[in-house]
Amino acid sequence: MPLILLVGTTSGTAEVVADEVSRRLTAHSIVNRIVRMERAALPMFTTRKHFLICTSTYGRGDVPDNSKPFYHSLVEARPDLSDVFYGVIGLGDANFSRTFNGGGQRFDNIFAELGAKRIGERMKHDRNSGIRPEQMALEWLENWLIEYDKLRFGSIAERAVRTHQMG
Ligand SMILES: Cc1cc2nc3c(=O)[nH]c(=O)nc-3n(C[C@H](O)[C@H](O)[C@H](O)COP(=O)(O)O)c2cc1C
Repeated sequence: MPLILLVGTTSGTAEVVADEVSRRLTAHSIVNRIVRMERAALPMFTTRKHFLICTSTYGRGDVPDNSKPFYHSLVEARPDLSDVFYGVIGLGDANFSRTFNGGGQRFDNIFAELGAKRIGERMKHDRNSGIRPEQMALEWLENWLIEYDKLRFGSIAERAVRTHQMG
């Protein structure tokens, strides 16, 4: 089951972050694909169940333009995502104090509302922090991978037990 990195970006930072994360996942033997959100659509959920949402924030805490159609299709069609797992890498600017990291938060909220289960804490990068977002993401990923491995290897172990029990 490939892990899909869904990228919401306007000026490209989230895509740079996704590229770095993708490389680290590959080094960790996790098959993954980057999908910019203007190319994401609901049928994807029939075959893809594991996602890392990597998005910035614009407007009044809104998702970036390239991810608006996908975001609104989730809000309007309300697909059942109860077999989906996801993580959130959010980018923002704490000078926008009321809407800080609103893009990541919106995706987190709608995925959770539709029944998906979040792995790990939501990452919230502040572009004024002096920390490069890709550096923060790679550090955040270390803990995230511990949780993700429990999901991946836990389910393999459970299947093995079930198969063994069936004889
Ligand atoms: C016009 C504009 C509006 C923004 N609005 C917000 C905002 O409401 N909240 C926030 O946390 N960050 C906001 N940001 C910061 C961006 O989300 C941040 O710079 C991010 O790293 C950009 O990533 P991108 O290059 O992938 O689009 C805004 C940036 C710009 C240029």
